[in-house]
Amino acid sequence: MDKNGKEQIGVSKNVEISTDKFKQILENKTEDINRLLAGFLPQEVGEQTTVISAVNYSVNAGGKRLRPIFLVGTNELCGGEGIADPLVAAFAAAIEMIHTYSLVHDDLPAMDNDKYRRGKLTTHAKYGEAMGILAGDALLNLAFEIAAGALEKEKEPERILAGAKALSILSVKSGIWGMIGGQSVDVEKTGQPFKEGTLDFIYRLKTAALLEAAVMIGGVLSGVTKGEADQLGQMGTAIGMAFQIQDDILDITGNEKVLGKPIHSDEKNHKTTYVTLHPVKKAREEVKRLTGEAIQILLQFDKKKGRDATFLIGLVDLLSERER
Ligand code: IPE
Ligand code: IPE
Ligand code: MG
Ligand code: MG
Ligand code: MG
Repeated sequence: MDKNGKEQIGVSKNVEISTDKFKQILENKTEDINRLLAGFLPQEVGEQTTVISAVNYSVNAGGKRLRPIFLVGTNELCGGEGIADPLVAAFAAAIEMIHTYSLVHDDLPAMDNDKYRRGKLTTHAKYGEAMGILAGDALLNLAFEIAAGALEKEKEPERILAGAKALSILSVKSGIWGMIGGQSVDVEKTGQPFKEGTLDFIYRLKTAALLEAAVMIGGVLSGVTKGEADQLGQMGTAIGMAFQIQDDILDITGNEKVLGKPIHSDEKNHKTTYVTLHPVKKAREEVKRLTGEAIQILLQFDKKKGRDATFLIGLVDLLSERER
C-alpha cells in the first residue's frame, strides 16, 4: 500500500491504481471483446453448420482475450478511438480469431495432442479431428474476411493505407515469418535437445509474433510513425517472450483448474522449453526482466503529450505474475 491507501500492483511501481480497480477495468475490457466477437461470429445455418458450430465453440470457450485487449489498448495509448473505431474493432476480432485457430491446431493429435483448453474439451476432442482442422482453417479465413470487410468501408486514403499496413502486419506475423514458422520449428525439434538460440527463435515466432502484431496494429491504426511502430514491435517481443516463459513455468507449477488446460503437456511431448534449459527461479527472473523491458518502452510513450500508459503498464505487470 502507498500513502494514499492505494495498493500498487506488481513489479513496476509505476502505476497508481489499486489492484481491485485494475482487475475491474480488465474484466470490463474482456467483456467488451467478448461482445465484439459475438457480433462477428457466423450464424449456425446451412449445410456447413457443423464447421460453423465448431468455429463458434472454439471462440466462445473463452480465453483471456489478451491480443485484442493489447491491440485496442495500444490504439488508445497512441491517440486512437479504440474499440469505437470500426477498423480497430475488426482487427481486434480478427487477431483473436487467428490466435484461437492457432490453439485449435496446436491441440490436434498431430501437434500437442491435448484434450482440454480454456476449461473445455478441445475442438478436435469435441468435434473430431477433421472438424478441428477445418474449424482452425475457417477461423483464419474469417479473420481476414472481417478485417478486409472493415477496410472496404473506409473512404479516406490515410485510413485505407493504415488498414492495408495492418493487414500486412497481421498476415506476416501469423504466417511462416511468425506464428506458423515458430510452430513448425517447435514441432520439428520436439524430442530433440537444442540450444538457447533455437528456443529464442521458436518463442519469438510462435508466441511473440502475434503479440507484436497486436500492439503494432493498434499503433498503426492510430497513425503512429514508422519509428514508433518499430518500438511498439520491440515491446510486443518482450511481452511475448515473457508470456511464453510464464506459460512454460505454469506447465510445471500451474493448477489445471485455474489454467483451463492440462499441465505437464510439455513433458508428455518431450519438449525442450525454457524450464528444461533453466531452473524455474531463473525463468521467473527472465519474465521479470522482459516485463521491465516492455514497461520501459511504455513509459517512453507515456511521457509523450496527452498519452497515458497506466492501463497497459498494469496489464504487462499483472501478466508477469499470471496463473492462467
Ligand atoms: C496460449 O495463449 C498459448 C500461448 C501462446 C502460450 P493464451 O494464454 O493467451 O490463451 P487464451 O487465449 O487465454 O486461452
Ligand atoms: C504456444 O505454445 C502455442 C501457439 C503459439 C499456438 P504451447 O503449445 O506451449 O501453448 P499451450 O501451452 O498449448 O497453450
Ligand atoms: Mg505447442
Ligand atoms: Mg500446446
Ligand atoms: Mg504451453
